[in-house]
Amino acid sequence: MHELGFIGAGAHGCHQMRAFAAQADCSVRAIFDVDSQAAEAAGKRFESAIVCSSMDVLLALEELEAVVIATPAETHAAITEACLKAGKHVLIEKPLAHDVQAGEAILASAAAHPELKVLVGHAERFNRSYIDCKKAVSDGAVGVPRFLSASRLSPLHLNDLNWVLGPLDTAVHDIDILLWLIEDQPISVTAQGNSCRTLDGPCDTIAYQIEFSQGALAQGFISWVDFGPAYPMPDNAHPRLFVHGTGGSLQLDLWQRPVRLDSRQLGRNYFLDDVLIGYGDYPTQTAAQAAHFIDCLNGRAELRCSPQEAYRALFVAYAAHRSRLSGGKPVAIDAPLYKPSNSYGNSQ
Ligand SMILES: NC(=O)c1ccc[n+]([C@@H]2O[C@H](COP(=O)([O-])OP(=O)(O)OC[C@H]3O[C@@H](n4cnc5c(N)ncnc54)[C@H](O)[C@@H]3O)[C@@H](O)[C@H]2O)c1
Repeated sequence: MHELGFIGAGAHGCHQMRAFAAQADCSVRAIFDVDSQAAEAAGKRFESAIVCSSMDVLLALEELEAVVIATPAETHAAITEACLKAGKHVLIEKPLAHDVQAGEAILASAAAHPELKVLVGHAERFNRSYIDCKKAVSDGAVGVPRFLSASRLSPLHLNDLNWVLGPLDTAVHDIDILLWLIEDQPISVTAQGNSCRTLDGPCDTIAYQIEFSQGALAQGFISWVDFGPAYPMPDNAHPRLFVHGTGGSLQLDLWQRPVRLDSRQLGRNYFLDDVLIGYGDYPTQTAAQAAHFIDCLNGRAELRCSPQEAYRALFVAYAAHRSRLSGGKPVAIDAPLYKPSNSYGNSQ
């Protein structure tokens, strides 16, 4: 039995608890949140869980094998370091951190504990539709990718206007997917943002553009939208992706039939029907990620998204953040960020 601790019992922490509780050989053993009411409320939902009065109390529980960190990005570095020092494997929610320096601190903590697994929760890596896209692009079905576009809407109430990266905290999902698909070194990032809910409120929408060393271009937008009460939650993020290459194009729209591929390379235009029509798999990809983490703990899988891979998405997101703050000036990427990914993993 894998006994897990959870730090952060907000919206996504509770998703993670449900996902892990549903695994056959796993129990939600301990919960800590600085907001004791949030921790108590979560504790009531899981009989196996004890609610801890501090992070140290949780980390002192010898039976805990691993900890899921679902707190704001600003807290990830310190909590990860404490968990690893206590000998616990960790799953850190995306984004890896809120800035590059904190991301580097996490890389250093992970490197100091090679015996422990550190998975970063880029849950879209576990979404069948994106896995289909990755396979199609890797198989050369669109030839050489030259232009990519990724976007998502996200309900404002599931996000936090105080997060340092603002909407890029959410867009980091797409940035990770773009980097995963293009497999090339990003060289420059520009971004601009504004507030769409009010004329002069906090930034809730950002458009960004990434240039790659071999000439490919990726663009994206993220909007935190104040959806009304009738908004169907299964439609949560409405992610979309378009990839145009020398041999074809690929479209994904998780509100519609998921992935359509028009491949001159293969002489075919068809739907990659691995997923049910309609989105609604938000908990499912979190569940697939939970199963993968357990597989990693059992030594049956290699980490699908390592801290190094999450760091490159953070690096680009942070460059976009800096560009946005400067009113859209290009930010050059000087760190070598490209290395071949772990592809789409071995547990699907
Ligand atoms: N993978 C995904 O699809 C996905 C979706 C949503 C959120 N997230 C990520 O999950 C993380 C949490 O987001 P959320 O939506 O659950 O936010 P939230 O605000 O609902 O919950 C965060 C919780 O962390 C607690 N907290 C803050 N600092 C803490 C600390 N130092 N120690 C313990 N608890 C602390 C807060 O009290 C709160 O209950 C963020 O990194 C976010 O980007 C990921």
